[in-house]
Amino acid sequence: MKKLVALVLALLMALSCCVALADDVTVAFSQIGQESDWRTANTDSIGKWVGEHEGWIYTYDDAQQKQENQIKALRNFITQGVDVIVLTCIVDSGWEEVLKEINDEEIPLILVDRMPDCMDKIEYYAAFGGDFVEEGRRQVAWAGEYLKTLGRGEEEVSVAIMEGTTGSGAQVGRTEGNLAAMEAYPNMKLVAQQSGNFTRAEGQALMESWLKSIDKIDVLIAQNDDMALGAIEAIKAAGLVPGKDIIIVGCDSVKAAFQAIVDGEMNATIECTPLYGPAVVQCIENLLSGVPGSKELQHPDEGVYDMDGGIDVGGVVSIKAGDVIDERVY
Ligand code: AHR
Repeated sequence: MKKLVALVLALLMALSCCVALADDVTVAFSQIGQESDWRTANTDSIGKWVGEHEGWIYTYDDAQQKQENQIKALRNFITQGVDVIVLTCIVDSGWEEVLKEINDEEIPLILVDRMPDCMDKIEYYAAFGGDFVEEGRRQVAWAGEYLKTLGRGEEEVSVAIMEGTTGSGAQVGRTEGNLAAMEAYPNMKLVAQQSGNFTRAEGQALMESWLKSIDKIDVLIAQNDDMALGAIEAIKAAGLVPGKDIIIVGCDSVKAAFQAIVDGEMNATIECTPLYGPAVVQCIENLLSGVPGSKELQHPDEGVYDMDGGIDVGGVVSIKAGDVIDERVY
């Protein structure tokens, strides 16, 4: 009987503690910057869902593309005594010290989008983000399969890979997937590989310089849609026809890319969802109700979108972008 009373008391205490916390929770988000349409949608999604949650206070920091600003923000969050920290990492490395400081203060940490490379050395409540290697694999597989539909499966084609921010999880993973997939398409020859830093302006500038220095580019693999959209401007300015003279495969599946596909200037985009707001809220609610966390990195289900649909990239078949453009909110 004594044991039962103790158990009930412990449960009641745990419950009252959860309710007290749930009523006055400060959630802080360290965002890397605003380099792309994807990033804006990601900021808006988390800001809306967490910011509008009843009883929660939302704190946000934009690091302006600098890791040192993110580290400073995380230390400020610790000093402010926030209850939960949400983090996406601009680059993979250099996080262990500050994340251990967060662990020492026992502030629950939720990792989204880009992960740190020290996940096995730190504590965190949950982690979810895109499967970057798979996204990169799908980009090249889409181009390889599309070339076959054009009867160019045996033709030697020149491929340029426009990479994202060097050292970021999205760049490292997508490059690994791009290069691994090229082994399955021996007709695809790599002629250029350089960073456009995930921005439209740098994508445009890089494409301009490639078009001056490289004889022929048949396929552009741009590791995000913003760089692809910038490259389209450079291709048009050079008197070439984007989507025809150069096959363009982006990544993210933002509405502007869907529009470029509908307009015939871009060929395909691989989805990487930025809409983590609902998942972050669910995660914090679980945390506050005492649900144990999980160290398993979770990936959302994502699609492939193109001009006509029906291209099988292994594991997923593409959908016609024009059929779903009106549903896209970012
Ligand atoms: O980490 C996700 C990537 O970061 C998106 O593909 C890109 O647009 C963003 O800048």
